[in-house]
Amino acid sequence: MVTPKSPLVPFETFDRSSISNYDAKLEVSRSLAAQVESGQVIGAGSGSTAFLAIHAIADRVASGDLAKVTLIPTSIEVQLTIAGLGLEVGDLTASRPDWLFDGADEVNPAGDLIKGRGGALFREKTLFRASADRRIIVDQSKRVDRLGGKFPVPVEVVPLALPVVIPALERLGPSGLEIRKGEGKDGPVITEMGNVIIDCRFYDIADGLELAIKSITGVIESGLFQGYGPTLVGPTAGGTDSA
Ligand code: A5P
Repeated sequence: MVTPKSPLVPFETFDRSSISNYDAKLEVSRSLAAQVESGQVIGAGSGSTAFLAIHAIADRVASGDLAKVTLIPTSIEVQLTIAGLGLEVGDLTASRPDWLFDGADEVNPAGDLIKGRGGALFREKTLFRASADRRIIVDQSKRVDRLGGKFPVPVEVVPLALPVVIPALERLGPSGLEIRKGEGKDGPVITEMGNVIIDCRFYDIADGLELAIKSITGVIESGLFQGYGPTLVGPTAGGTDSA
């Protein structure tokens, strides 16, 4: 493991001992890092799997196996990780990513995703939409037959629009809605974009739900990804590989 280099970042953003399914995530993140080529500009997703992948990429750079790699972050946490490991921090306004990697909370057999447990869904989807080549790193625990069984669909909302958004979301038939609460602060989570998140539980996630949520005035973005067909990097019957 590479020791953080930047004096600006005196801490690890994730405590490895608290990462669920650590060994499986480590394996798939190394598999992802093996796909990186020198000189590439790559979108870097958020969450613990993406965190391990950034470390695995930094390990390859530190060992001389890779020359310069630029990573475009999807959150402040990811930016700190990239900078702390001495990798180049990229910017979407300066360069288009060659490809993107990110984790997911759930993935169904069609490759549709729920993301956003970490609250970075807006920047995650922005970078995802900016990349033609999307690679999602998932260990076996993320595979589900039907989306929504474990995780809610997070929806990022401009706070002043809550009175408009909540009834409109209710008309889409969720089994529950909850404004996500902060930890380490009173009141709701405030995203990096200054918004709140409504976690929406759906028993049935129909085709077109992502667009229906997005069409509500006051919704910035959701963590539902339908119909994009990303490349899944994770365990297959024969071992860990792209699937
Ligand atoms: C962050 O907002 C999320 O979309 C993560 O990519 C997702 O929650 C997966 O996280 P882990 O890799 O920590 O399971």
